[in-house]
Amino acid sequence: MDLAHGPRRVDLSAIPRKRLYTGATMPGIGLGTFGSDHVSAGEIARAAGEALDMGYRYLDCAACYGNEPEMGGAIAASMERGIPREELFILSKVWNDMHAPGDVAASCRRTLRDLRLDYLDCYLVHWPFPNYHAPHCGVDARNPESRPYIHEEFMSTWRAMESLVDAGLVRHIGTSNVTIPKLDLILRDARIRPAVNELELHPSFQQGELFQYLIDRGIVPIGYSPIGSPARPQRDRAPEDATDIEMPAIVDIARAHGIHPAALCVKWAAQRGQVPIPLSTKAANLLANLRAVCGDPLSAEEMDAIRGCERNGRLIKGQVFLWEGAGSWLDLWDADGTIPGWHGYAKG
Ligand SMILES: NC(=O)c1ccc[n+]([C@@H]2O[C@H](COP(=O)([O-])OP(=O)(O)OC[C@H]3O[C@@H](n4cnc5c(N)ncnc54)[C@H](OP(=O)(O)O)[C@@H]3O)[C@@H](O)[C@H]2O)c1
Repeated sequence: MDLAHGPRRVDLSAIPRKRLYTGATMPGIGLGTFGSDHVSAGEIARAAGEALDMGYRYLDCAACYGNEPEMGGAIAASMERGIPREELFILSKVWNDMHAPGDVAASCRRTLRDLRLDYLDCYLVHWPFPNYHAPHCGVDARNPESRPYIHEEFMSTWRAMESLVDAGLVRHIGTSNVTIPKLDLILRDARIRPAVNELELHPSFQQGELFQYLIDRGIVPIGYSPIGSPARPQRDRAPEDATDIEMPAIVDIARAHGIHPAALCVKWAAQRGQVPIPLSTKAANLLANLRAVCGDPLSAEEMDAIRGCERNGRLIKGQVFLWEGAGSWLDLWDADGTIPGWHGYAKG
């Protein structure tokens, strides 16, 4: 796209918004900020600054992305340029090695310091396990400390998340990478319910059942890797993976709308009802994705054709979070409708 043609920013009133169960609203598109193993923290922060100038207001941050100090610089500079704090929706996530209740508050305070903010709009538990891996590790790496989902443990982490809301440090809390069996338990026992759930969503992986479960319960689905994460780390690649932006239906419909297949994935996501959080470090792509969620809706036939791209093609399988004795990565996702390992797991 030629940035010289048309305005370089999108009017905020044209960008769709989603209502959270608290009555607050959030932008219907966010900027992903995971530079993976190849985009530097400085480059992500530069892109975030450009994105904010274009009209993005939701930044999808996380402690484990290793760039929150740089993101804090970008946020502070944008506020100095006149963007009010109230317009921003800043989300971050507690990493898996900080699930102990005392660590959750420490992690949140560290993120607030790095992002140079006094509150977060939303704070997520990044994964429902206290399992973490060394940076740049291979797909077969296993941490001997890793364990299955243990609901009592998760709820003690969640209680610490609830305390952050009580203390005014975060406005909403949410989950990520959870399944329906886990959410059934979390919703049963939470004092403060998750306002959002972040999950992998793109045309070849639509997670229809979980998506509808969230909508039915007033939990906003945030769709990560909305373009099919074409630059994801090597450890998250498998020969059978689909490439969303090369699927014939995606290519054809994108051409009909005069946009790149990547922008079409973003457009479809917003129209379907999730909040896409595409990453880009290129100004033209940032702007194309933002414009894609504004106007020129897809027809019912086009939405049907994209529904037909479903391949149950999970890309971020999470193998590195498996515990010793687990089966395949499907165990992380409760593939048979039950949570494996939890009841039989002996601590210590
Ligand atoms: N909660 C979780 O566990 C979790 C897991 C994974 C990801 N996430 C979040 O989701 C975000 C997005 O996912 P992702 O980064 O994996 O992948 P993605 O957004 O699906 O894809 C990003 C890639 O698409 C390219 N791209 C973006 N817009 C484009 C356009 N209009 N035309 C052509 N190419 C375009 C980008 O390249 P250019 O830079 O060249 O434009 C980049 O390589 C992450 O950054 C992170 O915030 C969360």
